[in-house]
Amino acid sequence: MATNRTFTMIKPDAVANGHTGAILDDMIKGGFKVIALKYTRLSDEIAGQFYGIHRERPFFKDLVSFMSSGPIVAAILEKDNAVEDFRKLIGATDPSKAEPGTIRNKYAKSIDANAVHGSDSDENAELEGSFFFTAFERF
Ligand code: RTP
Ligand code: MG
Repeated sequence: MATNRTFTMIKPDAVANGHTGAILDDMIKGGFKVIALKYTRLSDEIAGQFYGIHRERPFFKDLVSFMSSGPIVAAILEKDNAVEDFRKLIGATDPSKAEPGTIRNKYAKSIDANAVHGSDSDENAELEGSFFFTAFERF
C-alpha cells in the first residue's frame, strides 16, 4: 500500500538562484503539506551516503560535488499518493524533457543542476526522511 509521505531537497542551484520560496509555494499549491523542513549544507561524505545507490554510476562524482556545492532545503511532504504525485510535480530528471509547468521545467538548467530531488519509492521516502529528520522534527 502506498504511504502518504515523500522526501525532497531543493538543490544548491535552485537555492543559489533564489527559487526556494517559489518552489516551496509550488509544492504547497500542488497539495503537499510540509511535515518537516531544514536549511543545511551537505558535506561530500553526507551527499555520497545519501546518493549511495548511484555509487557505481559514471555521474556519481559530479552528483556528489554538485550536491555539496552550496546550501540546500530538505523537507518531508505529505499528500495522498505522495511519491508518485510529487515525481509528476517535479518532472523528468533532464529538465529539457520535463513537462511545461513542472518544477524542473521552470527552475532547472541541466540534468546535474536540476533544482529538486524527489524520492523514487515509499521505502526510499522513509529512509531519506529519517536520514535528515528525527521524530522531534516532524509535525
Ligand atoms: P533525484 O534522485 O535527484 O530526485 O533525481 P532522479 O530520481 O530524477 O534521478 P536519479 O536517476 O536518481 O539520478 C540522481 C541525480 O543524478 C544526476 N544524473 N545524471 N548524466 C546523467 O545521465 C545523470 N543521470 C542522473 C541527476 O542530477 C539526478 O537528479
Ligand atoms: Mg532519484
